[in-house]
Amino acid sequence: MLLQKPEYFTLQDIDAIADAIRERTDFRPRIGLILGSGLGSLAEEAEAEAIIPYSELPDWPVSTVQGHAGRLILGTLESQPVMILQGRVHYYEGYTMAQVGLPVRVMQRLGVEILIVTNAAGAVNPEFAPGDLMLINDHLNLIGMGGLNPLRGPNIDELGPRFPDMSQAYDRELQALARKVAKENNILLREGVYASLAGPSFETPADLRFLRGAGVDAVGMSTVPEVIVARHGGTRVLGISGISNKANLDGSTITTHEEVLEAGRVLVPKLLTLLRGVLRAL
Ligand code: HPA
Repeated sequence: MLLQKPEYFTLQDIDAIADAIRERTDFRPRIGLILGSGLGSLAEEAEAEAIIPYSELPDWPVSTVQGHAGRLILGTLESQPVMILQGRVHYYEGYTMAQVGLPVRVMQRLGVEILIVTNAAGAVNPEFAPGDLMLINDHLNLIGMGGLNPLRGPNIDELGPRFPDMSQAYDRELQALARKVAKENNILLREGVYASLAGPSFETPADLRFLRGAGVDAVGMSTVPEVIVARHGGTRVLGISGISNKANLDGSTITTHEEVLEAGRVLVPKLLTLLRGVLRAL
């Protein structure tokens, strides 16, 4: 069997999905929220206007990983019109980078101006502990440096420029707001650089020492492609990592997906307080 995977999408492909969503609801989101591994239960907090399983949307990539529910929720959270992705897809699942970035494109066509992106990540910074939240203040696009960029292919000029700037991938005002909300709620908010790798294998101790040497604080297998697509289209980004495990720089412990999901349960209440506070202030 020959599996044909889209290497890139046209504006018509993207708009076909946006239209399919518009046919289901008149609701127009302003803020997009992507919920990472183990963090999907946050979606239950929204007052839903429409819930659409990914499988009912044309071309929409469906998450195959445990801990990712796979549905789209349009509704309000703290009086803000939000579009929540309960579960995302990753490159390691076999999707192309264009597919990984597609949901953000659809968000943009539906009018989303701000993307709040969350993930579960391993702590490379030795001071970070499982259960901590980390404000992403920059990323290291290692996966993209190797050639895997969601913007590869013909540029869609209607969406953004061929060579988009990434000097402020994470919006400074939104970062300041997150710090303020964390402080007001006595939430310890770490801060640092997130690196995304292709996965699905976790890092070796040598990989991790390399990342630490390169200034990385947390490592994961997502987020960066979605942020690149968001910035290409002029969407402002707030990124939060939930630290699910300590990365294993000396080889003394092992990392498991169960550990990542378990940490999600500790992280969800804190993340919810933080996100609610940010949404209220937007
Ligand atoms: N490495 C990569 N991805 C991850 C990790 C990790 O330690 N934890 C959660 N996602």
